[in-house]
Amino acid sequence: MDLPVLYDSCRTYRRFLQKPLEPGLLRTLVDVARKRSCGRNSQWLRFVAVEQPENVKAMQPLLHWAAALPKEIGTPKEGEQPVAFVVVAKPRNASPMISDIDLGIALDAMAITAWQKGVGSAILAAVDRKKIAALLEIPEDLEVNIVLALGYPAHKSTLVSGEEGKSLDYYVDGNRDYYVPKLPLEKVAEFK
Ligand SMILES: Cc1cc2nc3c(=O)[nH]c(=O)nc-3n(C[C@H](O)[C@H](O)[C@H](O)COP(=O)(O)O)c2cc1C
Repeated sequence: MDLPVLYDSCRTYRRFLQKPLEPGLLRTLVDVARKRSCGRNSQWLRFVAVEQPENVKAMQPLLHWAAALPKEIGTPKEGEQPVAFVVVAKPRNASPMISDIDLGIALDAMAITAWQKGVGSAILAAVDRKKIAALLEIPEDLEVNIVLALGYPAHKSTLVSGEEGKSLDYYVDGNRDYYVPKLPLEKVAEFK
């Protein structure tokens, strides 16, 4: 599939089938991420791929979902939760601006690579960093930054046209399928 078309459906997914990822996928994701561009080729980022069932289960209460929705709608219930994670950490002394950009590049690369295989994801910044670090025994000199939650989606998510000055919050319908407003191209880009 053409990459722009693939990106259109590569949305945030928040409910998942309880079906394991294909073997080796997490390894592929972090392998892609580690080779992406990064400031001065410093390679600050460290990745913890979480797939052992006891760790996957222990991660669930440490994540905070869908701030724009009531908890009972936006938070995946048991039987809907992600089946794997990639936790991304970086050294406490990493250059903040550059390493944050590195982080975005790595996350997007993992998300689109997973999606190419039909695996949906959610980038989660609202996470209990200290508890995740303790659970996964992440060394003190690294700080947990962000979590990529993964699984085969159990809902749809559709792009809709957003309007400047109106709410850009995502919303759901009666099936808890998501709708995500995006501003029109002409509002966010100029061609000169
Ligand atoms: C940096 C970043 C942090 C995010 N943190 C969370 C989060 O903690 N919880 C959550 O449910 N979604 C989180 N999201 C997902 C966003 O809510 C989502 O990307 C946005 O609503 C647009 O939806 P889309 O990804 O389908 O375009 C995060 C996304 C990004 C890029």
